[in-house]
This record gives sequence, structure tokens and C-alpha cells, in this order.
Amino acid sequence: MALEKLFSSYTIRGITIPNRIVSTGHDTVMAHHGHVTDRLIAYHEARAKGGAGLIIVQVAGVHETARYTSHMLMADDDNCIEGYRVLAQKIHAQGTKIFGQLFHPGREIMETDDGTAPVAYAPSAVPNSRFGVMPAPLDHAMINEIIEGYAASALRLKQAGLDGCEIVASHGYLPAQFLNSAINQREDEYGGALENRMRFIKEIATSVRARVGYDFIMGLRLSGDERDAEAIDQNEVIVVCEALDQSNAYDYYHVIAGTSASLQGAIHIVPPMYYETGYVAPFASKVKARVKAPVMVTGRINQPQVAEQILSEGRADFCGMTRALIADPEMPNKAHANRIDDIRACIACNQACIGHFHKGYPISCIQYPETGRELTLAAGKMPTKHKKKILIAGGGPAGMKAASVLAARGHHVTLCEATSQLGGQALLAQMLPGRAEFGGIITNLAREMDAAGVDVRRSTQVTRAIVEYEKPDAVIIATGATARRPHFEGSDSAHCVTAWQVLKGEVNIGGRVVIAEWKGDWIGMGVAEKLAREGREVTLATEMPMAGQALPFYVRDEMVARLHRFGVEIMPYARLYGADDESIYFHHASSGEPIVIEGVETLVLSQGHSSVNTLKDELNDFDVIVHIIGDALTPRTAEEAVLDGLKLTVSNFYS
Ligand SMILES: Cc1cc2nc3c(=O)[nH]c(=O)nc-3n(C[C@H](O)[C@H](O)[C@H](O)COP(=O)(O)O)c2cc1C
Ligand code: SF4
Repeated sequence: MALEKLFSSYTIRGITIPNRIVSTGHDTVMAHHGHVTDRLIAYHEARAKGGAGLIIVQVAGVHETARYTSHMLMADDDNCIEGYRVLAQKIHAQGTKIFGQLFHPGREIMETDDGTAPVAYAPSAVPNSRFGVMPAPLDHAMINEIIEGYAASALRLKQAGLDGCEIVASHGYLPAQFLNSAINQREDEYGGALENRMRFIKEIATSVRARVGYDFIMGLRLSGDERDAEAIDQNEVIVVCEALDQSNAYDYYHVIAGTSASLQGAIHIVPPMYYETGYVAPFASKVKARVKAPVMVTGRINQPQVAEQILSEGRADFCGMTRALIADPEMPNKAHANRIDDIRACIACNQACIGHFHKGYPISCIQYPETGRELTLAAGKMPTKHKKKILIAGGGPAGMKAASVLAARGHHVTLCEATSQLGGQALLAQMLPGRAEFGGIITNLAREMDAAGVDVRRSTQVTRAIVEYEKPDAVIIATGATARRPHFEGSDSAHCVTAWQVLKGEVNIGGRVVIAEWKGDWIGMGVAEKLAREGREVTLATEMPMAGQALPFYVRDEMVARLHRFGVEIMPYARLYGADDESIYFHHASSGEPIVIEGVETLVLSQGHSSVNTLKDELNDFDVIVHIIGDALTPRTAEEAVLDGLKLTVSNFYS
């Protein structure tokens, strides 16, 4: 597909954006004391070098009351200017344009830096359902102060040399709270009729423009469809855009979905793989039909072809491709060079990008752990000075990552996979309902091995004899793990199978099923959904306080929603302890009291994994360097497996 639209420039207020690929605002958790850091600069510089047309820097607080996390960027005093200035210089040096997001969360406050409950401000004292925050209503003085905060912050971005700013009125944050009649219950000139509810957004535009002049771009980010019971009226969003556009209040409108206000709405802030690519485009085209200004759309646009289609159908003028650039900073350059197959497409797993954000850790990507580590691990991928012969046992994510990086650094690498297929546990993970896209990690890593010239041997199990024959300088054991089958009282008498056996279709399953789940991950939940979809009566008993406890929040909540729709009973705090012909016995994980489930035909065990690394013992007395990575070292997730592969390959031994 020709990508003509995608690689055409667009000029706003005399500022030419070289192409339509946008890295939209995303909190990287790399700010320090509210300021831009070298790490953040290196992160964005990698995306600018990779060919992104526009980078919109993450949310920056415009007022002291805007601190929604303890690690956010702030633009509320002049000390922010220097960091932004260096960032803008580095981005401009690559020909990429740069905007900054200006932000006030209103009642959407997640945490404070000392762990106390926040004092949040909103148009009215209407509580937030997701974080349990009851805000204080804003008085006029405070409204004016916050609007002044937007204007002063915008000026700082301009002084730092940025090309524009984006007012974040999306995701149920403060400007959206003013718009939403379910949240804004004011009786003054900021509440009531839509004209009043949009006053705050209008006043921001007027005061920012008065401060920054006419050679600085100002856009507005809005949620078209908040996907929540208390959502903003979608028609009102269109009317608001039209009215603002008629007075040229904003230079572009950026349409996304979702709201921070509820668990249901928040899923769409960073939509997981359950949502189809480009699914926000239909709403963007409704906005585009009503405004003269350009429209940007974001949400699961993970490949250049998807973006080109949206642009060429006239649904939008710019495409946010944020995780696409997190997973592959070189995506635009590869697309431009017609190397589409070399693009490491984002699989919308949410694990290391927004998953890290919610844990308070810097951004990365499970497929490409170099992301967020530009100054450390990524910088270590230099050509080697001492070429070595390396034999890798195991073609799962850990082995594949190690192989591709080592070969790219100039080593001679052979990777042997015992089965006929590469992928390891990812082959099973992609079989969970709605998670086929997870298999993309295999396609992408296999492609990287291919490009780097790895000698791949399928259906070849590495044994001591092979090592003796090949005489490598090092053996990397990446042989993964197998399903853990714990011993418990009466396990022989029950119809007891593992989740892996269910996924592989190796066993018969009864009509009444209990899944005993241990660590709150994808497997027990996914198998529960699969079996319920097939018409079985399913109870998911998890040892954790909630199902999906270990998952990225938006994935967890989507999976819980699906289990609810298919009638799966979820039983938390249930620690497996025994089984007989028809009953399964649990201890309540905090009271220790017994829980008995009767009439069970099949017990499915989702009890984690056990490492497979027998090769280590085989090579015990053999004179060869041995490294163990991934689940073969200790069972974790694909993220740690790929990271292990990268870390090892940039270590001194391979330099
Ligand atoms: C780690 C992370 C942090 C985010 N933080 C912000 C933010 O600071 N401001 C914002 O408007 N959106 C934020 N988002 C949402 C993104 O801008 C974007 O809308 C979302 O990732 C969906 O686009 P994609 O499918 O192209 O990734 C964040 C997304 C991620 C992955
Ligand atoms: S961690 Fe997953 S969702 Fe996030 S950028 Fe990487 S592949 Fe995409």
C-alpha cells in the first residue's frame, strides 16, 4: 500500500509538520522533581530519529492542584523551561515538531507524594468512582487561577522553543468535568446550559492565545465516546467542537475515547488488544465533518497501513500512533522505506507501557525493552570486537531476543528449538480468547532473528552431544518452563487437568468446572472465559484478593468484564488444598476457614510454571560458558524473558 497521505506534510500557523505520524502525550514516569530529564530526552529523541512527524510531550501540570501522580511533569513555574528547551532542540534537530500537553486532572487524582488522601478540586462535589475521590468545588478565584496557570504554562513552553501545546480536555479531566452535565452541577455561569459548561474550555483558549500570540499552535484533546454510564453526551462533544471551531478557538481537535472516571471508561485510555485497530476513527470523522481545523485521532492505530486508510478516507488529518512508536521507534522510517514487514507492531498487551505507569515505573515495551532504556541497555548494542560462537537452546521470547541482538552485534549465533515451532509459551498465550494478537511477539522476534542472520534449527533439542559437536564459546539456556502441577491431598481422584492441557485441547472437560488460579494473571481468567463461552458452568477460584490482580489494570478490567458477561463466578481468597471425586477444597486465604465447592466435574489447575533447565546439569562438568535466561532461570512473564535476553547480550562477555 502506498503511504502517500501518511508521509505528506501539514502546515498549521506556518509550522510544517513533516508527516502525519504523532507520538501523542504519554506519561513516561521519567520526570524528576517535575522536570524533564536526560532519560526523557533520549526517549523522545529515539522516536524523532525514527521519523515521527510530531511528538506531543506528556501531561504537565498547570497548577499546584494538578499533581495527579507523585511523578508527573509540571509546567507551573519557570524552572521547567530549561529542560523543555533542551528537549525541543534535540527533537527539532531531527526535523520533528514538538508540542507539550497542559493538564489539570480536577477530581481524577490517583495519589499524593506522601501517601495522604488528596485534596482534589472539581466543578462540583461529585465523587470519582475509580479512585474514590470526593472533590471540593472550585470557587471563582480558583477557576481564574487555574486558567491563568494554563496561560502561563503555555508561555513557558513557547519560551522553551516548543511549537505548540495541547489542552487536555479528554479522559474526564478538569475541562471535561466542566463539560459533563453529570459531573458539573454548578448553578453559576460555568454550569447549566452547554454554553455555560463549555465556558472553561473557551476561557482557556482565550487566555492562552492572548499570552502566546499567533505563531504557536494550540490544540484540544477530547474524548468522543467516554464509554461510561456517566459519559459526556457524544452529540454535545461534536457541538462543542463545532462552536469552538467557528471562533477559531483551537488549531486542531484531537479525538480519543474513554474516561479516567470509571473502570469501564478507563479501559479506553490505552485500549488493550480486545479492541479493533483504529476503532476511534468513526467518531473522529463525525468531528471532522463539522470543523474546518485539522482533526487528530488516536486509539489502537498500530500499523502505517491502518493510519493511511484513516487518512485517505478523510476521517482525520493526523494519526496518534503512540504505542506503535513505543514498540518500534523506527516505525515511520521503516514504513517510509517500504519495509513494512520489518515493523515491530505493538500488540496492545499494555504490560510495560501503561502497565509500568500504573506501578510508578518508567515506560518500556515487552517486545522491545530498549524502550525507556535508551541511555543504558539500548546504548550497549554496539558491534562486537570479539566475535563468538553462541549456541542458544530454546526458541521462546528470551532465546529469540538474545539471538537477534547477539547476531546483530556480529556474533555467530545458532538457535535450536526442540519443537517444530518458535514461540514457547507465547504460542499458548495467543490461544486465550481475544488474545491472538499476542502471537505478534513471535512473528516480530522471528523477523528480527532473520534480519540479523541467526541460524535457526527447529525440531532440534540441544543435548550435551550437540554442544560437544558444535564447540560454542557459550551456551545460552532459554528452555522455558512447563505447567506447574502442585501436589495436594486427593489430587489423583479428581478429574484434574492443567490450563495448558485445556488450551492444547488434550483433555476432556466436564460441564461443571472449577479453575484453581494462583497468581492473578491471564491464564486462569482466559481459560475461564474459553470454557464459559463453550457453555460450561465455570467458577474461577483465585488465591489473590481479585482475579487479574497481577495484570495491567485496563487488561484486568476488560477480562473481568468479559467473565461477567459469560457468567463466570469469581471466588477470591481461595487457596487450593484438596480434591476428591466431586468436591474441591480451598482454604480462605486470610481467614483459613475451609471453602468447599461440590458437584465439580473438572478441576483446571492454573498454578504457575516450573523451570525447565536440565541442560544445565548435562553441561555441569563440561568446559563451556553457560548462561540461563527467561523462565528457564525462574518463571516470570514474557516481559522479563525478553529483557533477560537483552541484558545478557549487552553484558561485558559479549562486547
Ligand atoms: C504509558 C502511557 C501513558 C499515557 N499518558 C498519557 C498522558 O500523559 N496524556 C494523555 O493525554 N494520554 C496519555 N496516554 C494515552 C495516549 O496518549 C494514547 O491516547 C493511548 O496510548 C492510545 O493510543 P495508542 O493506541 O496509539 O497507544 C498514555 C498512554 C500510555 C501508553
Ligand atoms: S508493552 Fe505491549 S502494549 Fe505496550 S507498546 Fe509494547 S507491545 Fe505495545
